Amino acid sequence: MKQNIIRKGRLAEFDEKALRFTSSIAADAWFFRYDVLVDLAHVAMLKRQSIIEQTTFEVLTKALLKINEEGYVKLPRDVDDVHVAIETALTERAGSAHAGWLHVGRSRNDEVATCIRMALRHDLLVLMNAVLALQDTLLELSASNAATIMPGFTHLQHAQPTSLGHHLLAHCDALERDLERLANSYERTNQSPLGAAAFASTGWPLDRDFVASALGFDGIVENSMDAVSTRDFAIEALSAASNVMITLSRLAEELILWSTSEFGYVEIDDEFASTSSIMPQKKNPDTLELIRAKTGSVIGDFTASVVICKALPFSYNLDLQEITPHLQQAIATTIDCARIANAVLETISINKQRLAEMSAVGFTTATELADTIARTAHVPFRTAHTIVGDLARVGACDLDAIDKVGLRHLGKQLSQLGLTADDVTEALDVNRNVAKRDIAGGPAASQLKRMLKARRRRHKVRQQRLLLRQTALQAAEKGLLTASGA
Ligand code: ARG
Repeated sequence: MKQNIIRKGRLAEFDEKALRFTSSIAADAWFFRYDVLVDLAHVAMLKRQSIIEQTTFEVLTKALLKINEEGYVKLPRDVDDVHVAIETALTERAGSAHAGWLHVGRSRNDEVATCIRMALRHDLLVLMNAVLALQDTLLELSASNAATIMPGFTHLQHAQPTSLGHHLLAHCDALERDLERLANSYERTNQSPLGAAAFASTGWPLDRDFVASALGFDGIVENSMDAVSTRDFAIEALSAASNVMITLSRLAEELILWSTSEFGYVEIDDEFASTSSIMPQKKNPDTLELIRAKTGSVIGDFTASVVICKALPFSYNLDLQEITPHLQQAIATTIDCARIANAVLETISINKQRLAEMSAVGFTTATELADTIARTAHVPFRTAHTIVGDLARVGACDLDAIDKVGLRHLGKQLSQLGLTADDVTEALDVNRNVAKRDIAGGPAASQLKRMLKARRRRHKVRQQRLLLRQTALQAAEKGLLTASGA
């Protein structure tokens, strides 16, 4: 083992077990390339502030670009983390007379926090794009199923008729709030901690704003103690990702249920299903089951991270390192799941006939019948509710049965209420049920059309905003690399 560049002054070499136990080098692969950018920006600022000489700047940037080109795989592994690995490689290439200036006015505490924020903001954009693509598919399916009548559920019992378009748009709206949360967490993630050094900043005249803008950040995390201590941006992203996963898991669970023989509402495409090694007839919704399961993993990553942060004294503690792999994994898993959910939906077959057949089963029109009684006879809704509840109890759930059993059963009551057979027929018609629910947000076709239009508009705005973000980050990176002579 070579002498460790940061230990050699103060400490003997690390015990091998202790090094393996404490090193984050494997997890740091996530942000290796951002660490090089952070180094380049820092070095450029040091030169600008006349802290290092032009020659040192040139030697360091050239060597850093070479290290970047060779990639993470070429770095030494027997070190604490990727920051030390890069500095070690830099020392070998550039010599300590130059490389020794890299870490002036900087600590790994502000460095790592910056790298995590850069990797996270990138992944958040990828995730938002994946969720937007899923929304796109949901919007399309919702539009093409505006007239697909189905039973809506409460307590997993048939409740009232609705349309599949309305149902799918509900998932799309949940994803919209998820996107809003992701976008909010992006805002707080995209702030630079650099210049905070260990926690008390530095006596060197660093320009924190210059480095922040060179790296594409919107601003700085001002208080240097706060800058290195906090991982609330990570918790927020993990929480937003958990919410995305919860939305996806509910969608996945419905599709799993709907694809059973009992429901038969949808069929998942072969490409996204598996079979059994013993039961040749089986078609299992494995992809959806894994979305359901991975929701647990992401919530686990979130939970681990909040518990790691709890009661942690300020400022930096190595506990914070333990959060990084949870964060990376959770966001990567969420991206995967959003993409798979989208692919499953893009290829799913919908059994409209089955949905229509099932839409009246379970007396789903009972509420409308009660409403009709209340409306026609001006009796309080609770009275009408009791009358229809009575019909349901004796099994009089369609016109024939109500005629034969119900009306007789209720004797004079219904005729006294002035209800005609036409009124009853209309109340029991599932299509009319849906068409009547025409207030803001209801499943009536006109409402759905209006909602779809508004959502498509909003969707475009989100896509544009995302593109602006992406372009800004790319421009910053390109500018930095060009200024460094790449
Ligand atoms: N590997 C560390 C992390 O991921 C970098 C910061 C180390 N700082 C320290 N004082 N040991 O958080």
